[in-house]
Amino acid sequence: MDDSDFDTKSRIIELLDVRGKIAFDYAKKVIYHQMSDHTERTATSIACANIAFIKYWGNRDSALRLPVNGSLSMNLDGLFTRTTVSFQNSLGFDELIINGHEVMGKGLERVSAILDIVRQNAGLDIKAQVVSENNFPTGAGIASSAAAFSALALASTKAAGLDWPEFAVSRLARLGSGSASRSIPAGFVEWKMGSGDEDSYAVSIAPPEHWDLVDCVAIVSAGHKETGSTEGHALAPTSPLQAARVVDGPRRLEICRRAILERDFDSLASIIEHDSDMMHAVMMTSQPALFYWKPATLAVMGSVREWRYSGLPVAYTIDAGPNVHVICLSESASTIVELLKALPGVENVLIAKVGPAARLEP
Ligand code: DP6
Repeated sequence: MDDSDFDTKSRIIELLDVRGKIAFDYAKKVIYHQMSDHTERTATSIACANIAFIKYWGNRDSALRLPVNGSLSMNLDGLFTRTTVSFQNSLGFDELIINGHEVMGKGLERVSAILDIVRQNAGLDIKAQVVSENNFPTGAGIASSAAAFSALALASTKAAGLDWPEFAVSRLARLGSGSASRSIPAGFVEWKMGSGDEDSYAVSIAPPEHWDLVDCVAIVSAGHKETGSTEGHALAPTSPLQAARVVDGPRRLEICRRAILERDFDSLASIIEHDSDMMHAVMMTSQPALFYWKPATLAVMGSVREWRYSGLPVAYTIDAGPNVHVICLSESASTIVELLKALPGVENVLIAKVGPAARLEP
């Protein structure tokens, strides 16, 4: 080996070093990028479903989901959606995965509309992946859209670096699904109809530990409902009964609020059944008419009334579906569950105590 061989070899080593350094720097950049996508722009939240005691039915502005009346609900502990939102530079479009299945079309558009608001406020110009899991049947009168959009609102604002106060997250959730505004605060929650977009959001009127109520949800059909709430709200003004329901709204709201604050079960029972019956009367007299009840729904309603007349503190309320939410005190929950399970047509009974606020997972 002479000197020139030595020179050539050391030049090759030098060259390899430079290329190695470039490759190393590039790999470092890619890894850094991926890590920053995950550490800085990802958040996971959990939000409960809720059951309305005074119902939201009809909008005065359907694009902004500004309701025609205020509403009041109880969060349902243990019936929840867990959602992870991650904004990623590598995505060409928003992705939505619910219970392991990719969702496209209208469902994705509704989610993207919320993400667009978040992006605008955070000055972000990248798409997001949304992965969501429900632990209860979707579309059967348990407000899955409430849990879904409240979890989305909380996770997406956090992932985008926005540190919004509760009322602002509730307002954002409202734009995705009206009832979702009520799943952001804790316990017993009132959604103020407000004068416009700015002040239409939900607030907690009492924490979960205020009153040991239990919702025993009698499932009489776990299938998908035929007409979703969004279409239903649009039909509300076609019923001549809706105007009367709306005018009387503040009175019912006040009775219900007071019943909760004073833990007055009798008063709560009569107002929630009355409010639920009024909403269903509007539904049944809309054009086209909406009938959500099945024969088993009526059978459960009748039994609940009989049990109450015989001294058990129990009442029913029904959302836009056939299942009956049977509200009782926790001390009589096991009796009520047994009674419900013995009724023909009751397939299953879900049990939920008063639930907490929507929260972020560490
Ligand atoms: C009968 O909130 O589901 O459950 O805003 O179109 O998503 P969108 O409607 P949604 O309506 C709920 C209707 C209800 C009553 C209630 O929860 O107040």
